[in-house]
Amino acid sequence: MVDYRAKLVLAPMVRIGELPTRLLALKYGADLVWGPEIIDKRLVRAERVYNPILNTVDFIQKDGNKKVPGTTDLVFRTYRKLEQGKLIFQLGTASPELAVQAAKIVAADVDGIDINAGCPKHFSVHSGMGAALLKTPDVLCSILSSLVEQVGKPFQKPISVKIRLLPEQEQTLDLVRKLVKTGIANLTVHCRTREMRNGQPPIRDYIDKIKEICDEADVSLIINGGIKSYQEFKEMQEKYGSDISCMIASKAETNPTVFNPEGPLPWPKLAKEYVRFAQQFNNSRTNSKYCLAVMMPNTRGKNVICRLVSQAKENDEIYDAVLNKMDDEGKYIGEEIQDNGAKVEDRQELKRKLDLEEAENLKRIRV
Ligand SMILES: Cc1cc2nc3c(=O)[nH]c(=O)nc-3n(C[C@H](O)[C@H](O)[C@H](O)COP(=O)(O)O)c2cc1C
Repeated sequence: MVDYRAKLVLAPMVRIGELPTRLLALKYGADLVWGPEIIDKRLVRAERVYNPILNTVDFIQKDGNKKVPGTTDLVFRTYRKLEQGKLIFQLGTASPELAVQAAKIVAADVDGIDINAGCPKHFSVHSGMGAALLKTPDVLCSILSSLVEQVGKPFQKPISVKIRLLPEQEQTLDLVRKLVKTGIANLTVHCRTREMRNGQPPIRDYIDKIKEICDEADVSLIINGGIKSYQEFKEMQEKYGSDISCMIASKAETNPTVFNPEGPLPWPKLAKEYVRFAQQFNNSRTNSKYCLAVMMPNTRGKNVICRLVSQAKENDEIYDAVLNKMDDEGKYIGEEIQDNGAKVEDRQELKRKLDLEEAENLKRIRV
């Protein structure tokens, strides 16, 4: 069983946390990795398929999406050879029954199931998921205890939950007291309230009180929010005890090697390593473009490699641009190119495409 204590971990991040990012994080020092949140309704429409070419376990939407150009049927992919013992699957849900049904589909191929009770986005909260669960603690506790009994125990997998702070300290502590009684193995606290944005400094005033409650119930605690490096993780351990764990999101979004005690890779090396994993596991072109767009600096749109990646119509064009046409300093080393005026997709455009893809996938879900 996974031990969440004294770990530095990759946060769940929609779109960013697909297989290439997770493997990069693991290679450079992350102790555990969370997958991106996947909604219960989407997962229950998926079936498990072993992929003999990639040696991966794939979860594929049964009622495929082939008719919608650019969309993908792949819901989740894991490479057990490297992720075994280290992969936490995050579920978005507002229903104990659906949560159990969905978690059973992946339980044997992941190392823990986590519930997202912190996402403040409209998409999550309007259907009672994510941060909305902070206002319905009975529903949240019922989801967690159902998972503990019906998935955690039979599959021998730990169940955990990720929350945000409530506006008042006592409200948060009350919630934590309820959560630790459900049989969960770990609690992750994003040390910001639902209203706070990621750029704002986290509130760490009463982490020691949260930890006391967790310790008494033998539940491990991961703190999240504003943590930037391995060195900061060590500082947190000095402050809150050697068994505290830390989770990094934003800094790992721009550089998934941020976990490295020797410091993160410079961006050209990072991009090359990312692309090698993307190529090995046939990552979706839109997703690779999206992740690379955050990793590679494109000051005033002048980075030729960024332009080539952004304009790529095939996966091979991405691989060629990053692996063959860029040196270790990030300089373009290909043949002279004319600007053919092709449209450059910026991150917002890519996000729109991925949103459409997700909306198409969800439209097909009738549960
Ligand atoms: C691109 C992105 C996607 C995210 N997706 C998720 C998600 O799927 N599930 C979740 O619980 N939190 C998600 N979050 C929130 C992070 O896991 C984390 O709680 C938050 O960013 C604070 O950590 P940080 O200060 O290190 O960024 C996401 C954050 C980012 C930046």
